[in-house]
Amino acid sequence: MHVENKVILITGGAGGLGMEMGTVLSGNGARVYLLDLNEESGKKAEAALAHLPGKVSFLKMDITVEEEWQRITSLVIEQEGRIDVLVNNAGINIRKPIEEMSINEFNTMMLVNVGSVFLGTKYVLPLMREAGGGAIINTSSVCGLIGHRYTPEAYTTTKGAVTLLTKSIASRYGHENIRCNSIHPSTVDTPLVQEMFKDPVKKQQRLDEVPLGHLATARDVANAVLYLASDEASFINGVALPVDGGVTAW
Ligand SMILES: NC(=O)c1ccc[n+]([C@@H]2O[C@H](COP(=O)([O-])OP(=O)(O)OC[C@H]3O[C@@H](n4cnc5c(N)ncnc54)[C@H](O)[C@@H]3O)[C@@H](O)[C@H]2O)c1
Repeated sequence: MHVENKVILITGGAGGLGMEMGTVLSGNGARVYLLDLNEESGKKAEAALAHLPGKVSFLKMDITVEEEWQRITSLVIEQEGRIDVLVNNAGINIRKPIEEMSINEFNTMMLVNVGSVFLGTKYVLPLMREAGGGAIINTSSVCGLIGHRYTPEAYTTTKGAVTLLTKSIASRYGHENIRCNSIHPSTVDTPLVQEMFKDPVKKQQRLDEVPLGHLATARDVANAVLYLASDEASFINGVALPVDGGVTAW
């Protein structure tokens, strides 16, 4: 996949999936910026990925703040002259069912999971237009495609919004050679999930959903981003790509 020298921003780049995306993209020669609130993890990620063929830089930012997007996009343009790809990946999940969740908690999830995608997209679009094109990749979830009984309704609401925001951007800006696609991972095998899997009932529930019979890895998700960011995906626009072993196929 060709992503050499592409300038790629990844929100939530200090987190599990974001860092793996940085690993795979920089491993293929991209110039990656990890954007995250968590400075400690971000700096660790930057150092851990320094040996890869591309370049990895950490920039601290709060993706829910409009002025921060102005500051960060200007900084990257100063350093690189362009932004080729934005991966709107950061997201949070307040794990409460609707009856236990306050409207403030709901609004926080909307702001982080949807508002940040809105803002990031708003600020890279004119830059991509000026450069003659670009790609935006949004991390949704299987819960942006289907309802899910073990998942908070607020999370599903935010991820569903990301699915259609993606298609709207794809429809409006495709003619300017700006592609916009979303990925939809099922549960990814992370330390957090391994903790949950100490409960054998919960473990079986999650595994029973997956036709392939095992969880996604962070690498599975990062490889989907690699493809959508690459030149090989130049005619792929407006797609909601499940990375779910078939969870949403039935
Ligand atoms: N892990 C899974 O099983 C799974 C499955 C489907 C979808 N997803 C989605 O994948 C994405 C990444 O998930 P993850 O598992 O890597 O999560 P994670 O918690 O490991 O990483 C998320 C990162 O986002 C950052 N972040 C949160 N709020 C921020 C803000 N306001 N400004 C800047 N950074 C902020 C956090 O500091 C963290 O580093 C999320 O959108 C999540 O909803 C995850």
